[in-house]
Amino acid sequence: MPAPDLDTIVSLAKRRGFVFPSSEIYGGFANAYDYGPLGVELKRNIRDAWWRAMVRERDDVVGIDAAMMTNPRVWIASGHTETFNDPLVDCKECRQRFRPDHIEEGQYGEAERDAEGNLRCPSCGGELTEPRLFNLMFSTQVGTVVDEGSIAYLPPETAQGMFVNFENVRSSMRRKLPFGIAQTRVSFRNEITPGRFIFRTLEFEQMEMEFFCRPDAAAEWHRYWIDERQRWYAETIGIDPARLRIRDHEPEELSHYSAGTSDIEYDFPWGWGELEGIANRTDFDLKAHSEHSGQDLTYFDEETRERFTPYVIEPAAGLTRTLAVALLENYTVEPDEKGDERVVLKLPPVIAPIKVAVLPLSKKNTLSPTAKRIHALIRSHWMTQYDETQSIGRRYRRQDEIGTPLCVTVDFDTLEDEAVTIRERDTQEQVRVPIARLVEALRERLPGVAG
Ligand code: GAP
Repeated sequence: MPAPDLDTIVSLAKRRGFVFPSSEIYGGFANAYDYGPLGVELKRNIRDAWWRAMVRERDDVVGIDAAMMTNPRVWIASGHTETFNDPLVDCKECRQRFRPDHIEEGQYGEAERDAEGNLRCPSCGGELTEPRLFNLMFSTQVGTVVDEGSIAYLPPETAQGMFVNFENVRSSMRRKLPFGIAQTRVSFRNEITPGRFIFRTLEFEQMEMEFFCRPDAAAEWHRYWIDERQRWYAETIGIDPARLRIRDHEPEELSHYSAGTSDIEYDFPWGWGELEGIANRTDFDLKAHSEHSGQDLTYFDEETRERFTPYVIEPAAGLTRTLAVALLENYTVEPDEKGDERVVLKLPPVIAPIKVAVLPLSKKNTLSPTAKRIHALIRSHWMTQYDETQSIGRRYRRQDEIGTPLCVTVDFDTLEDEAVTIRERDTQEQVRVPIARLVEALRERLPGVAG
């Protein structure tokens, strides 16, 4: 099925409690969003699945959680204060600011030019200034005295926390190359961008891993992580591999630290866009931090008796961007039991916000105690939702639309036969199971799904 248009997903996300525009009652705030009750569960599940794949199920990667507020010298050493810039143009008439590459790509509609071929303002057609470089980092003040020494930067990536802790982690965890350090966290960038929902926002969550290896093994590990990460999106997020592709960066678009970057791209409603970048960062970061801090960040290989600065392969993923793709990719419209249309969010159960819904057939008091007893039994195993309002058909539709893989229906026969009906989201099949076997029957249908 072709991906739905973005408006459909934005509307479902708001209506069903996944994602809301930030500070909406005040008219919103550009490029900022809030995650609602279902969005926060979906986000947590994607993050946990990434952590399991990248840290828990591997012997060669460990995790950290580094402070966001750091010594500003970190960002000088990393090159961000100097080079983390976007060229921007201002409209001389309406004062709006744009990225000229976004105008050229048609992100605001077809780009308009004057007789000399200069771009015109996509909003009012006015004259644009020459491009000027703007740094994407947000800065703030730490402490009570406001001077140059009190400036701190909100992190624009999680990666530097791993580089500055390379030696702490290596020595405390007695690690030998190759090994990785992983982290998930909020990052901040002062992005100027046309509305594409949560694709590009001011604050967003990243899932990054820095994999330290011998320089002569870097090319092989780069290939390995590209394959591994592509597989993860297909298996865990449920993305059709036909809507994923690998795009190697052209030399002129490489970041200042990279000797080669391959993006995993997704076929968004507006065209191919980056989901994750996998870069060969060489020894750039460890060498830069070594130089600026005066600390030795080299590595001694006991087998070969060589001392060198490790290379780094970095799979850098966007958690919030992946959440957008999970909604886009798994949205389907198909016939229900009666031949009417139903919307189903076919999220893989492992990331679905609610795993099991408990639905008493009627709101009558006679069913409630039994239904609540069953709810209490299930909720100690999985994230559940109890819903007794409206007709059972409408409640199934609601659960389908939020991606709940299983519903458990409690009816009047339950009072007699101590059995309930399990209804599967994707097949709409219904089976009757004794309450005594319910948890086992649900587990068979949710293999490997925790929480
Ligand atoms: N440490 C390397 C790094 O940060 P990046 O390609 O700039 O690399 C990695 O970012 C991922 O973070 C991107 O592939 C994207 O998924 C996500 N990302 C970057 N900027 C974002 C933004 N403004 N809003 C949402 N996600 C963003």
